[in-house]
Amino acid sequence: MSVKSKTNSIGILTAGGDCPGLNAAIRGVAKAAMHYGIKVIGIQDGFRGLVENRVVPLDDESVSGILTHGGTKLGSSRDKPHKMPMGGKIMDMTEVAVSNMQRLKLDCLVCLGGNGTQKNALRLHETGGVNVMTLPKTIDNDVLETDTTFGFDSAMSIATEAIDRLHTTATSHHRIIVCEVMGHSAGWLALGSGLAGGADVILIPEIPYDLNVIANHLVERRRHGKRFSIIAIAEGVISKEEAKGLTDAEKEKAKEKKPREETTADGIVLVQESMASRVARHLQRITGIEARVTTLGHVQRGGSPTPFDRLLCTRLGTMAGILLAKGRYNVMVGVKGDECVPVPLEKVAGVKKVVTLDHPWVETARLVSTCLGDNVE
Ligand code: F6P
Repeated sequence: MSVKSKTNSIGILTAGGDCPGLNAAIRGVAKAAMHYGIKVIGIQDGFRGLVENRVVPLDDESVSGILTHGGTKLGSSRDKPHKMPMGGKIMDMTEVAVSNMQRLKLDCLVCLGGNGTQKNALRLHETGGVNVMTLPKTIDNDVLETDTTFGFDSAMSIATEAIDRLHTTATSHHRIIVCEVMGHSAGWLALGSGLAGGADVILIPEIPYDLNVIANHLVERRRHGKRFSIIAIAEGVISKEEAKGLTDAEKEKAKEKKPREETTADGIVLVQESMASRVARHLQRITGIEARVTTLGHVQRGGSPTPFDRLLCTRLGTMAGILLAKGRYNVMVGVKGDECVPVPLEKVAGVKKVVTLDHPWVETARLVSTCLGDNVE
């Protein structure tokens, strides 16, 4: 231990949807903090564990051997301190969270999470007056002020492998296969894995799609002797017609899964249909080419992190330790170029980083003739 740490004790929690790399990040933060003599405790199941006072001590032994493990050894939840379901009611539990932190003598709460977590941590600091620090975790890659989030690379490699595998079966049966990738508001995962897997069409929430443009692209491929097509689609896509004249908030609402009527032996029933199924159904009708859907779902969030994510989590986590020792709080540790850097939480929380139309990945897709569902060549 070289410097006298300005922080004596921290709690670590993981919140929001899990992803590969959480355990690597817990290990990185905890080991670096312990290196500076900081006492570390783990808080179970995100902010709920803080409110319910469910904590576990973390020491060198308990964070050893978890670098490669998927999930989070602390458990996670999407609960927010200021709006927490408690015994059938939604309650503001901020004061309880703060008094538990004080009782545990925590100088800082280190929160590993995505967009929601950045907001919840900042709110806890602003309304509860406690110190927080965050690390950017999400397979969606939609956190501002960081080049990337941990978990994204692992999910992208899982989705890419799936797209690779779908190629061979689509080729054999001369089919369209629509592969649904996670991402409600941001299309990074669909765009990244679609590009890496060579999808013929990539549909993302940021670019409303035109079915006729996609159908023409598929028919043209067939005319050129390519008898299969792979479509990578983010779960939150929206059509051009649906997007017309809508505000951003209304577009979010329109992305919710819509029921459609279907006639069965029991009469007409309402069927919940994903956007991937809807797109596949319409494309099969317009082009006459048989279409199938594969939904990757939570497979994208499971299993061991890639080497890239392991390294990223270890770097972000150890930088968190350095900053804690210096007493630097209320920041997110982001990655910029070769460096891990502190960013004031106010600059991060509340706004999602989405794919912009002039992003280099969008241009790259267009230059390799990938259809993005719009009319631009
Ligand atoms: O935020 C990560 C994410 O995996 C999104 O991509 C996805 O839309 C959502 O979580 C799914 O959430 P849940 O696991 O709660 O169904």
